[in-house]
Amino acid sequence: MTQTIIAIAGASASGKSLFSQTIYNELVNELEPGAIAIIEEDAYYRDQSHLPMAHRVKTNYDHPDAFEHELMVEHLRKLRAGCAVDVPIYDYNEHTRATETRRVLPAKILIVEGILLLSDPALRDEFDIKVFIDTPLDICLMRRMQRDIEERGRTIQSIVEQYKRTVRPMFYQFIEPSKHNADLVVTRGGKNRVAIDIIKSKIKHLLQE
Ligand code: CTP
Repeated sequence: MTQTIIAIAGASASGKSLFSQTIYNELVNELEPGAIAIIEEDAYYRDQSHLPMAHRVKTNYDHPDAFEHELMVEHLRKLRAGCAVDVPIYDYNEHTRATETRRVLPAKILIVEGILLLSDPALRDEFDIKVFIDTPLDICLMRRMQRDIEERGRTIQSIVEQYKRTVRPMFYQFIEPSKHNADLVVTRGGKNRVAIDIIKSKIKHLLQE
């Protein structure tokens, strides 16, 4: 049964994945098998396969409506109740969901990471610990450019266009204000060693209780 759900939120390319993965990788071998698991909000992007590519690229992927948060809430509740869930797998190149899914078992500690976790009240209620990664936007933009070119099949032109049209405005409308719902605000994302160690200690303490 999942007992504690930790949300790691923050801007796109702020270092949420690195922060979450570092905690997970450093703890996974120390803890009893299946004690900790990770789920990404990105897995819950709505499938766009019914739309032509020209429409898919114009979708606002930084607005809460782009996500199937209802399914995510349902999955978090199932994990708390002790049931396994099949998390979707998302393809950023095609903007679609794969036919395969990823089975996640109810670990005692569940880390959830994503841009809009703290802006949706229904989702927010599911979290026991809420962390916001507060990395300067210029650093996020540089990382996003590099990542989207290397991993998501994008061009500089498409990145700049999307950034101006949706990523930046949605950050100021939804993500930045959600920082005030966080219990902890972490600077420098995945590179903040002290913050990583604090969360690791908290997790170990929770598992000893
Ligand atoms: N996105 C996109 N195309 C899609 C779906 C999502 O460009 N078909 C973009 C959205 O614009 C959104 C971003 O993906 O801003 C969300 O992913 P992000 O938070 O950047 O990924 P992480 O790897 O979790 O980021 P971090 O570096 O913080 O770990």
